Amino acid sequence: MRDAASNLRTVLEATPAHRRCTIALSGGNTPKRLYAHIESDMPLRQLICDRAELFFSDERAVAPDHPDSNYGMALRHLLQPIGFPPENCHRMSGEETDLHAAADSYERLVTKVVSGLPVPSFDLIMLGMGSDGHTASLFPENRSLPDSSRLVVAPYVASKSTNRISMSLRLINAARHVLFLVTGEDKASMVHAALMHPPSELIPASLVCAQHTIWLLDPAAASQLPEQDAQGS
Ligand code: 6PG
Repeated sequence: MRDAASNLRTVLEATPAHRRCTIALSGGNTPKRLYAHIESDMPLRQLICDRAELFFSDERAVAPDHPDSNYGMALRHLLQPIGFPPENCHRMSGEETDLHAAADSYERLVTKVVSGLPVPSFDLIMLGMGSDGHTASLFPENRSLPDSSRLVVAPYVASKSTNRISMSLRLINAARHVLFLVTGEDKASMVHAALMHPPSELIPASLVCAQHTIWLLDPAAASQLPEQDAQGS
């Protein structure tokens, strides 16, 4: 997680002084290890508090205090421990009954706060990947999403029997930097498929191609990559 923290620091320090650094946090559990590292790195946590404007790559259809909430996880493991200013953190409203309206509202917020034309360009979007190749809440079954002109979508995810709110590939791929954090043996075969084969709608993570896309893998997640690729990952 030192590499992830180092990438984060580099992006924060490169942000022009006149504006905050726009960062979208990923969901899932992997970021918890990074957040623990940040909490113990006083200069980095102060830099985040001083310079970051935080968003989320996706959210489940739950309230912020629900155990499954991506915002709730970030609040408990990062935002509260480092004293992040709440006015600079923008969660998705997973508790709304109409998630399409919630997605529209978040899209308007992103368009207002994040600079960039024709598509707002985040300084950094952090992502994870599921063992099925999903990223954010873009799942293999959401075949139509790669063509979406939307910036924020609310796909129905049949495998989860629920809608989600998610940044679209169009918004993700407009970012200056995308940082994938993927760990664990259970992801190894999908990491190989995503990185060693042509991009495929069957593997949404493989469709992510921002200005700079970095995959940070632990040895277990990189274990099926050719030796030289694993070292460079
Ligand atoms: C979500 C995430 C999702 C996550 C992957 C990996 O809401 O579930 O945004 O894309 O990053 O499922 O999750 P883990 O880090 O828990 O393996």
